[in-house]
Amino acid sequence: MKTHSFNDVAEEYSQKVAPYRFSQFLTLIHELDLFGDEKVLDIGSGPGELSMEIAKRLAEGGFLQGIDLSPQMIELARRIAQQQKRDNVSFATGDALALEFENDTFDVVVSSNAFPWVPDREKFLSEVLRVLKPGGRLGLVALSDRCYREFFDAVSQIAPEHPELFPHRQTQDSIGARLHTPNELARLVEKTGFSVIKRFSVSTEEPIKAEAYVERVNAIVSENYLDHLNNNGQRGTARRLILDSLKQKKDLYITESSAFVLARKPGWGLNYQI
Ligand SMILES: C[S@@+](CC[C@H](N)C(=O)[O-])C[C@H]1O[C@@H](n2cnc3c(N)ncnc32)[C@H](O)[C@@H]1O
Repeated sequence: MKTHSFNDVAEEYSQKVAPYRFSQFLTLIHELDLFGDEKVLDIGSGPGELSMEIAKRLAEGGFLQGIDLSPQMIELARRIAQQQKRDNVSFATGDALALEFENDTFDVVVSSNAFPWVPDREKFLSEVLRVLKPGGRLGLVALSDRCYREFFDAVSQIAPEHPELFPHRQTQDSIGARLHTPNELARLVEKTGFSVIKRFSVSTEEPIKAEAYVERVNAIVSENYLDHLNNNGQRGTARRLILDSLKQKKDLYITESSAFVLARKPGWGLNYQI
């Protein structure tokens, strides 16, 4: 699976997708029930909305470090942190698969919707385990299999008649992300050596116009479901077919749905909570 860095869509993502994830960010923060003095790492922090919400809730001694593969995302996050005059956050470019931190550095690691895009999920989780202190907690959010199903339905309807435009059988593969149920996510986390505390999913549905729907999907997948089409004419046809199919739905809703897993690194730490 190729790495999707979100460089091309950083601004669009920040305006068209991140605001709709807000309820998910608040759910994760609620579940984490922070003391306030934790050292927190946000992996794949994007434009930094979750990071900033966590930073607001930290007290003296608490600190949030955000990292992201995309320099554009980091630039946006730094700008927002500066506007909000937050001095307990720092953002840096970095790869989840090779974290530049010592073992046992963080009390809490969060990651919202970066996991589906990383090519090596086992390495991602073993890196998190390594940088967490014993007893430290992981709050992992990942797009669930219910996400963007209206888009997948549209492509599945068109594909049999246009195999030259939509050769992918698995439409998830075509967007370049792996979608997880909470149980699948929990199994992967457990296999790495964490104890899973809780697993659940959160979904929101919102009525939307077909054009805005496609824009929202593109703000997250950078239209990579058309990457295999070099011919501009073919791209135009594929775009039109998807839009027409979405327009046929009398009421169109966009589903934002994520699987959540809360887990703990074995061992006893100072910040141990029941
Ligand atoms: C869908 S965005 C999520 C952003 C933010 N956490 C949110 O929930 O709105 C996924 C982010 O993960 C980043 N990402 C993808 N692969 C990564 C990797 N290997 N290491 C660090 N960040 C990565 C992307 O650059 C992108 O900013």
